[in-house]
Amino acid sequence: MSSLEIRDLHVSVTTPEGAKPILRGVDLTINSGQTHAIMGPNGSGKSTLAYAIAGHPKYEATSGQVLLDGEDVLEMSVDERARAGLFLAMQYPVEVPGVTVSNFLRTAKTAIDGKAPALRQWVSDVRTAMKDLRMDPVFAERNVNEGFSGGEKKRHEILQLELLKPKFAVLDETDSGLDVDALRVVAEGVNRVRNTTDVGIMLITHYNRILQHVTPDFVHVFVAGRVAEQGGPELAERLEAEGYDRFLTPA
Ligand SMILES: Nc1ncnc2c1ncn2[C@@H]1O[C@H](COP(=O)(O)OP(=O)(O)OP(=O)(O)O)[C@@H](O)[C@H]1O
Ligand SMILES: [Mg+2]
Repeated sequence: MSSLEIRDLHVSVTTPEGAKPILRGVDLTINSGQTHAIMGPNGSGKSTLAYAIAGHPKYEATSGQVLLDGEDVLEMSVDERARAGLFLAMQYPVEVPGVTVSNFLRTAKTAIDGKAPALRQWVSDVRTAMKDLRMDPVFAERNVNEGFSGGEKKRHEILQLELLKPKFAVLDETDSGLDVDALRVVAEGVNRVRNTTDVGIMLITHYNRILQHVTPDFVHVFVAGRVAEQGGPELAERLEAEGYDRFLTPA
């Protein structure tokens, strides 16, 4: 049983005008096997939280802690975080020209496990995962995200999740821009990982739709850089019906 503990986390982003505070005291703990949905208005700091956990150099933790089984994540380099079992599916996945999906996945797997995966098993795992995600095998030989459609990029993120088997996964709007069928395929992928591993998931989303497929244990409302309210799945339904008005004080 593992835990990802975020304690009173304050994060600033580097801008040309200097450091700009975004997160203002986030407290959130995710245990193995749990799924936590994070909802909240645009600009409330959800992606900033994801980047801070993943170790994006532009996002600086000015105080507070992120602990993975008690180990200080903020002291780790980006690859140490990945090896420790953290995974981030980005809201806007980046293109990696010159690197095929197949090479990228094998390199990532090797780096995280500290040894290359046994070839036959690996090839078969990749093939199965791609088939499950209804990805055409030709994607394996395309460059990472280059010319991928929005939905194809999101499937590729879930492909990584299925193959890398992290302890904790942060999925930032993995449901955005998906057609109804793709949403189901992606949700099934997330559920396969939930059912076959002990992964803890932070699922950032604007829509209750994905939460009907991937039932969260907890829902957190993120407003102005901190958690404003927590509840169960019914909170997501309430937000969908009412919006965020009651959290926003008039300027
Ligand atoms: N590099 C940057 N320079 C300036 N401001 C930034 C930078 N990165 C983030 N911000 C600001 O930080 C705030 C939080 O952004 P963030 O992307 O975390 O929001 P979000 O909750 O993920 O929003 P969305 O729902 O639209 O994805 C926003 O006001 C954003 O403009
Ligand atoms: Mg975002």
